[in-house]
Amino acid sequence: KFKVLITRSNKNVNLNHYIIITLLFGNIMKYTRFNKNSKAEYNLIFIYEDKLMSLNKSVLTDAVREDVKLAISNKLVTGKSGSMNTFSSKMYEKNYFLVGLGQKSKLTIQIYEKSVNSAIKKINSYNINSISLDLNNIAISGYDHIKAGIIEIEKTQYNYRQKDLSTLKECLLNVSSRIKNKELTSTINTSVAIANGLNKARMLGDTPPNICNPTFLAKEAKKLEKLNPYLKVEILDEKQMRTLKMGSLLSVSQGSTQPAKLVIIKYMPVKNKQPIVLVGKGITFDTGGISLKPSPNMDEMKYDMSGAGSVIGTMQACAEMNLKNNVIGILACAENMPSGVATRPGDVVTSMSGLTIEILNTDAEGRLVLCDALTFSKKYKPKYILDMATLTGACLVGLGKYPSGLFSNNNVLSKKIKDSADKTGDRVWELPLYSDYFDELKTNFADIQNIGGRYGGAITAAAFLANFTKDEKWAHLDIAGTAWDSGNDKGSTGRPVKLLTDFVMSNK
Ligand code: BES
Ligand code: MN
Ligand code: ZN
Repeated sequence: KFKVLITRSNKNVNLNHYIIITLLFGNIMKYTRFNKNSKAEYNLIFIYEDKLMSLNKSVLTDAVREDVKLAISNKLVTGKSGSMNTFSSKMYEKNYFLVGLGQKSKLTIQIYEKSVNSAIKKINSYNINSISLDLNNIAISGYDHIKAGIIEIEKTQYNYRQKDLSTLKECLLNVSSRIKNKELTSTINTSVAIANGLNKARMLGDTPPNICNPTFLAKEAKKLEKLNPYLKVEILDEKQMRTLKMGSLLSVSQGSTQPAKLVIIKYMPVKNKQPIVLVGKGITFDTGGISLKPSPNMDEMKYDMSGAGSVIGTMQACAEMNLKNNVIGILACAENMPSGVATRPGDVVTSMSGLTIEILNTDAEGRLVLCDALTFSKKYKPKYILDMATLTGACLVGLGKYPSGLFSNNNVLSKKIKDSADKTGDRVWELPLYSDYFDELKTNFADIQNIGGRYGGAITAAAFLANFTKDEKWAHLDIAGTAWDSGNDKGSTGRPVKLLTDFVMSNK
């Protein structure tokens, strides 16, 4: 009666990665609400290992449901997390993609997002034009699974090299009838804007460091102006930064032929309202400088501008959504190179704040560009300052690659960031800023030194930054472990754009 094609996919299956960058290049995917007459080539249905027999009535015809149940009892469909089974029902002219989510009570945001991602990637490789997604049986409290599902679909449409473009054009969403059309349309628009921003951040991160230099990042930021009349970009060159006495930031670009840039992206659609300021570390390549890094995997230091990339992506999303909130993005862009005129370990520089810094390790350069950008940001009288930085290998050692490290001098602010992280699945984990850590930065030769002792490197780095934001409500996200993936799936993740857009949207 029907043909069962088992296309089980697991981590080792090499999924097709060569897909069009849908939104960046204008091939916009259409999302529509599913209705009884909708016809998609593939129907994607999520199933639970422990709820296999209660398949959703609205999407499966009775006859097909019986077929599927037969396959279940023959153990052809398991519902295990990571499993995917394709049913081609010639008779009913329907194709079903059964995506396992594991046990219902153990469903997490991560399992759901990974399942959507790998299912759509698979579909991309099948040359399919349209799919329907049944999102009725996903329930994680406080989590917008429709929004996340769309973002995940859009993520699969990204590929740095535009090879073997996906044919997917249409997604029919089968969602609860309680969701009004207007609400669904706004969810779709918001999700696509966020996904575009996220994919933009990924594109910037993946761009090779001979192209993506500080000047390139400044130009990319400038391009955002055409999105929204409320978005304005200012670019400060080294001469202007010298006038502002940004001696710390300038010490980092000193050894490079690429001039540093400080980029200010203002999005101020609301009158008389304090902005949220987002500061991003934009080291377009980090060799370590005279404190040279070891050679293996040094190429990954092209991702050292991911903080700045996430700020550009977030600003783009806000402008595209026409968000009614004031946000300012500041990018501290420089290249960290060794040379005859590079900073030496032992050099003392004066930061914009007036604090003098002894540079004991030229590889601790992120904090040196950030401290001046943070001081600069005070002139906007920010409601909150958040900085994003691939700041320390120690953060990766301590927390692994799943949460970003969170540090803050304000409990209300850190709670808000944690809420956004929980809501979006863009996870964070808070680490302490005890005064002991600040003591490790004392030196006989300047007000402060740029490294702490041997242990707790992510925290001493954050403590260094905290010295420059004493009077503001400030938080720092160390994204060293979360901004990109290594190995076979090497590439920028676009984190923490989802967290930041949610934070900006939730704090109007
Ligand atoms: N960009 C690096 C941090 C980094 C390293 C991120 C590896 C992701 C993977 C940063 O500029 C750096 O080099 N930090 C040093 C600080 C140390 C010298 C105190 C580090 O983590 O080793
Ligand atoms: Mn470094
Ligand atoms: Zn760095």
